[in-house]
Amino acid sequence: MHAFASSSPAAGPAWRLPPLRVGLLGIGTVGSGTCRVLARNQALIRDRAGRAIELAMVAARNLARARQIAGPGIEVLDDALRLVRHPQVDVVVEAIGGCGDARTLVLEAIAQGKHVVTANKALLALHGDEIFAAARAQGVMVAFEGAVAVSIPIVKALREGLAANRIEWLAGIVNGTSNHVLTEMRDKGVPFDEALREAQRLGYAEADPAFDVDGIDAAHKLALLAAMAFGTRIDCGAIAVQGIRDLQPDDHALARLLGYRLKLLAVARRRPEGLALSVRPTLVPARSLLANVDGAMNGVMVQGDACGPTM
Ligand SMILES: NC(=O)c1ccc[n+]([C@@H]2O[C@H](COP(=O)([O-])OP(=O)(O)OC[C@H]3O[C@@H](n4cnc5c(N)ncnc54)[C@H](OP(=O)(O)O)[C@@H]3O)[C@@H](O)[C@H]2O)c1
Repeated sequence: MHAFASSSPAAGPAWRLPPLRVGLLGIGTVGSGTCRVLARNQALIRDRAGRAIELAMVAARNLARARQIAGPGIEVLDDALRLVRHPQVDVVVEAIGGCGDARTLVLEAIAQGKHVVTANKALLALHGDEIFAAARAQGVMVAFEGAVAVSIPIVKALREGLAANRIEWLAGIVNGTSNHVLTEMRDKGVPFDEALREAQRLGYAEADPAFDVDGIDAAHKLALLAAMAFGTRIDCGAIAVQGIRDLQPDDHALARLLGYRLKLLAVARRRPEGLALSVRPTLVPARSLLANVDGAMNGVMVQGDACGPTM
């Protein structure tokens, strides 16, 4: 107990570092959540990180809304480029989404020598080569734990925890919206359209759910996971992708009869001829761990040569 307390960061010289100043781009679902967590868990984050992490400023399009969410004392700008170049911003958190402004701003942040944090899987899956090369050249980090499998720390697990393993395959339920829809169809026997409408009503699905139910979002996440697991670049366009729109309640009933459950599974597997990557509705043995990841939850299983199957 004593040794633990004396080895806490609070005792170390890191405490003398000035706060790390965060510039936040976009204050929608992810951005406003980031604001709230940084404020609510300020002391906890400072103790764990050994340095205070403070929200310095926000760039948004709707300034009144942004001021209301960010709270007093946080500067709100309508010019995202100015935030990225601002001398009082150490780290840029990109929470805009898409590959337009987000790409320009992330590349500019890197050019300015700033570390970047993003949850934008589409940006990294489609422009990761350019972004990570720029970051390497500048000696800055692009951190993206939030981009894959919501709050499961799978990026750190693959990069660090399982670093000594040769990964044979990984399989994941990495899209909460489609998993919620599939779970409702199976449990309530309702058709796809009805389950999707309910997911939208509950806020689990976007007004335009195509990225989620057509497997595109899962393919972006699979590209990132596979790149880390197999140490290679992944061409997103080469992933075989099939969504869940065509599934019927009867498909779930039949799967149950056979002892399986239907899941939208993202799979990357090492084969002698190369990597096989797919996102498609898959029969998963009903008693397996992955089959029991239900609702909006995510789960990733990794088979390493040393660790064996790890969820
Ligand atoms: N939502 C999730 O659960 C979730 C989970 C993991 C990862 N992600 C990823 O996180 C990213 C953000 O998602 P989100 O759900 O938070 O999206 P969102 O709710 O649509 O928020 C994006 C915000 O960025 C603002 N914005 C757009 N362009 C801007 C610009 N040039 N300058 C300043 N602000 C700008 C938008 O303003 P307007 O309101 O004016 O359009 C909006 O408020 C996406 O890449 C998404 O894939 C989301």
